[in-house]
Amino acid sequence: MSTVKVENHRPKFHFSPPADWMNDPNGLVYFKEEYHLFYQYSPNGTDVGGMHWGHAVSRDLMTWEHLPIALAPDEKGMIFSGSAVVDWNDTTGFFGGKPGLVAIFTYHDHSGLTQKQSQSIAYSKDCGRTWIKYEGNPVITSDQYVDFRDPKVFWHEETKRWVMVLACGQTVCLYHSPNLKEWTLGSEFGEGIGSHDGVWECPDLFALPVDGDRTNLKWVLLVSIGAEPAFPEGSRTQYFTGHFDGRAFVPDEASQTVRWLDYGRDNYAGVSWSDIPEEDGRRIYIGWMSNWKYANKTPTEGWRGAMTIPRELTLESRNGEAVLIQRPVLELERIRTPLLVAEGEAVNELNLLLKYQQLETYEIVAEFVLAQGIDSLGFKLRTSEQEETVAGYSVKDSAVFVDRSRSGVVDFHEHFAGIHQAILPPDLQCLQLRLLVDRSSVEVFANDGLAVITDLIFPSPSSLGLSLFCNGKNELPYKVKIYQL
Ligand code: FRU
Repeated sequence: MSTVKVENHRPKFHFSPPADWMNDPNGLVYFKEEYHLFYQYSPNGTDVGGMHWGHAVSRDLMTWEHLPIALAPDEKGMIFSGSAVVDWNDTTGFFGGKPGLVAIFTYHDHSGLTQKQSQSIAYSKDCGRTWIKYEGNPVITSDQYVDFRDPKVFWHEETKRWVMVLACGQTVCLYHSPNLKEWTLGSEFGEGIGSHDGVWECPDLFALPVDGDRTNLKWVLLVSIGAEPAFPEGSRTQYFTGHFDGRAFVPDEASQTVRWLDYGRDNYAGVSWSDIPEEDGRRIYIGWMSNWKYANKTPTEGWRGAMTIPRELTLESRNGEAVLIQRPVLELERIRTPLLVAEGEAVNELNLLLKYQQLETYEIVAEFVLAQGIDSLGFKLRTSEQEETVAGYSVKDSAVFVDRSRSGVVDFHEHFAGIHQAILPPDLQCLQLRLLVDRSSVEVFANDGLAVITDLIFPSPSSLGLSLFCNGKNELPYKVKIYQL
């Protein structure tokens, strides 16, 4: 007889580990028609512990096959975050002239009085199924930095060498190498610019066309910053735009202001896939959907941690500035089941239709005309008598927001409940909202990915109500589509 274990809050369409603890995505690489997702994994329970690289693969970014642990700790330390690349030309000599996968990761050794972090590599000759650690490890050490981790590596075609961006205290160091084994420090970036509210972690660096124009490339540098008690936001991710010549990153004017990737609390340590085929051309990103502020306390049993929906990143001009835009990858559309299409002006009429829906995991694509007299509007998600998560827009603040104060279980950390908002351009005439709701998360993409809020929620499984609200007026020109996911 088989028993089905009901796991409250286990995501339906987001990646989560089969059991135990997970944090950052690692080693994101596409090779032979598989997206690899490695991740910081502790197989010893649901608390952060001895870090391994867990492993899963997907062909469509939506459904994942769990594979055995890829990298386990050894006498050099735990396996902290890092990246993976396809060594197409066998620059390492590991693959007898053929292409193969190389992982670049941080060893974290805390056997001594102070922690030691160093960079190492491992390779796989069987599409990531088994890994051999390089005998010459570590390949980069430091006497200067205690926090010295999270190598993200890519091939820089113009200079025909590998580039590594590495978090070093509160800056990033840029190294280069002909063969992934011998590395030279090229430059350091970050002093006096950006947010220094916490230690810098998990950087990523890549070029994107501005407005799809491949003759006009700009470089994007992502830098996650760790949680510090002084800041209620906890851990979060900033981005810079600028120029990169293979050695140094030079920020542009717009980067003098701190820019956040996400205005919710639960998108951290996100990085992008390496080696997406040129004919695809996308820059695909995924983040860890939690926050170091309370990651150890989230109310799940048997497993802990999930990833955001994979997102495509683009650079688009808004008000004369190239800004980072995020949209769920197109593959999401393949897991949709259409539920409702409505267009109208009377809020209560739509609510009559929604009243009889019992919705757990779904997507809403909505458009509203912000007519005079409207104060705020939006959706109440996963509702019951006691619970609701509000995702909406406040006209007075020109801000899209998520209010998770009454979203379900919130009392596991004093900073969990609350309202998170992202400012949109003032005097908006039309608002677009795209919401992804899973068993323990809501992701809000406002105005076609211009502002994003990613928040965990822990509603009761029976909180399945959904409604539209509009304060100030009952008339709100709307177009709404709902899909089950
Ligand atoms: C970011 C991070 C990384 C580190 C890893 C350890 O969340 O702190 O800097 O490599 O997690 O699990």
